[in-house]
Amino acid sequence: MDIERLNALLGRFPDLTILVVGDFFLDRYFIIEHALAETSLETGLEAHQIVEIRCQPGAAGTVTANLRAMEAQVIAVGVVGDDGEGFEMLRGLWNRGVDVDSLVVRPDRFTPTYTKPMLRERDGALRELNRLDTKNRRPMPAEVEDQLIKHLRSLLPRVHGVVVADQAPEENCGVLTERVREEICALARAYPTVAFVVDSRERIGLFEDVMLKPNAREAVRALHPDYAAEPDHGLAETCAAELYRRAGQPVFLTLGADGILAFHADGPTHVPALPVTGPIDIVGAGDATMAGIVTALCAGATAAEAAEIGCLAAGVTIRQIGTTGTASREQIAACSATSQPVGRGLSGRCGPGAPPPRRGRVRRP
Ligand SMILES: Nc1ncnc2c1ncn2[C@@H]1O[C@H](COP(=O)(O)OP(=O)(O)OP(=O)(O)O)[C@@H](O)[C@H]1O
Ligand SMILES: [Mg+2]
Repeated sequence: MDIERLNALLGRFPDLTILVVGDFFLDRYFIIEHALAETSLETGLEAHQIVEIRCQPGAAGTVTANLRAMEAQVIAVGVVGDDGEGFEMLRGLWNRGVDVDSLVVRPDRFTPTYTKPMLRERDGALRELNRLDTKNRRPMPAEVEDQLIKHLRSLLPRVHGVVVADQAPEENCGVLTERVREEICALARAYPTVAFVVDSRERIGLFEDVMLKPNAREAVRALHPDYAAEPDHGLAETCAAELYRRAGQPVFLTLGADGILAFHADGPTHVPALPVTGPIDIVGAGDATMAGIVTALCAGATAAEAAEIGCLAAGVTIRQIGTTGTASREQIAACSATSQPVGRGLSGRCGPGAPPPRRGRVRRP
């Protein structure tokens, strides 16, 4: 895509309204100062001393933050608890300019939260301790499903795109219960001009009449639920092709350092990842990719162009170390101007080339 076309698409982003429906998890970091450790008089155990708390909306909240960084308008549809974590979630989304009026607040649900204790050692290095997870393990009440469906039906006429962020592994315990999923698929059929793109950790194969954005593992497990090994990209490609055949809608298979393989009417098209030198932090790369894909599609991009913008957005965020990065329109344009993607010889349209350097995951935050 040439720079004029890219700028024309990016220029439309602020006119777009995207609905994000799914599991808004709070990411909460406790920074613990090892040097201040005390001993509990009651138990004799070491009492960790927290000196800093950082909270930010994660999961559906991460794609939301990316969409806002791209200046799209965002409406959040999901469920939080009537608890302190829910307050932090609402505040975090509100501060990013997200419309939170359709977030259902329930006293009988937890705000799903990943609490990450980070121990600061005497040399200043941060060591991540065991994560503490707060999740809902009881099914979503039918009356909450009713509320979610009501919000979706009333919002659909005024949105350009819908991102589905299905994070909760426990079936029917997150926002994307069977009923809500079926309603979303029905809305996708009823609103064929709205771009629906689904990200689902465990159930991407159950969504119909919508576009899909699986990574390699998700694509393989959609067809082979018991597949436990790290799937090779050839198998992922076969599975994504089958998902495309079934869905009849574009499928964006993300392949980490190998970029994206987009299945669509004129494809498949392989879009290589952006080459990067130096350390990278891939946390949240999938969500940046999703934000790039959906905004591009809503702005009128083809599936191949959307995959390209998805890779550009991820290329911007993975260079941001120690934070779940976001990509602005300016950063995406600058990234495109300075980077020549590097192909890796997949089966798509782009030619093979030298592989980008592989780097290890960087510790957070
Ligand atoms: N090591 C890497 N080098 C270069 N680009 C990368 C790398 N890892 C990821 N990316 C970029 O990010 C995109 C999405 O990555 P990936 O396939 O890992 O998604 P994901 O598994 O959904 O990520 P997440 O863990 O955030 O959910 C890739 O298509 C690629 O453009
Ligand atoms: Mg992902």
